[in-house]
Amino acid sequence: MRLDKYISDAMQLSRADARRLIARGGVVCNGQPLRRADAQVQDTDRIEAGGKLLSRQEFVYIMLHKPEGVVSASTDKRDKTVVDLVGGAFPRRTLFPAGRLDKTSTGFVLLTDDGAFAHDLLAPKRHVEKEYLVTLDTPLTEEMRRGFAQGVTLADGSRMAPARAEPAGDDPCRVRVVLTQGVYHQIKRMFGVYGAGVNALHRVRMGSVPLDSALQPGQWRELTADELRRLRCRE
Ligand code: URA
Repeated sequence: MRLDKYISDAMQLSRADARRLIARGGVVCNGQPLRRADAQVQDTDRIEAGGKLLSRQEFVYIMLHKPEGVVSASTDKRDKTVVDLVGGAFPRRTLFPAGRLDKTSTGFVLLTDDGAFAHDLLAPKRHVEKEYLVTLDTPLTEEMRRGFAQGVTLADGSRMAPARAEPAGDDPCRVRVVLTQGVYHQIKRMFGVYGAGVNALHRVRMGSVPLDSALQPGQWRELTADELRRLRCRE
């Protein structure tokens, strides 16, 4: 690819700023300053700027601990979005959430600019598990557990894939739910079939990757290479 594109991606600079840096001789390729913005470089080239070795990431993958009151969207006229929480750190990327949580829900949201990855992660046929800790306004019943395992039919007649609902600790209203689908308001609608309301909903895991307990609400970090591999392989 062109050197100015490489520098712009790797350093999160505009193309114009990347070109200025290159023209100033600020970019060194395989030990030699390279001053031509249209020079062709490859990922195997050793490219340095300001004495630092650069690496160009094609896509960005972020684990965010979504706080309550923030919407799972890229932009919104009224509310703060999950992308607003991290976007400033990646001004040249078009990030979006791979799977949504309701405004009132909290927990693991994955943000990326890799459309194919997000599509694959959310594809129903891949059955990637999503795990939630849910607080109901009534105790979990055996009827709910069995219904979830068989596949709940929602009020609009649509049949949900089998899911798990099991007690999470001593409080009978605290429930661990595992889904392999992502239908709008799915958990609320599934419990609604049994007349149960959801007071709180927190996503704790996607695939085999748990939400990092060091992340406070509103905090985020990039996925590690191992986490990304596990999400790709559906481990
Ligand atoms: N199901 C819901 O009802 N809400 C969420 O935020 C996620 C799953």
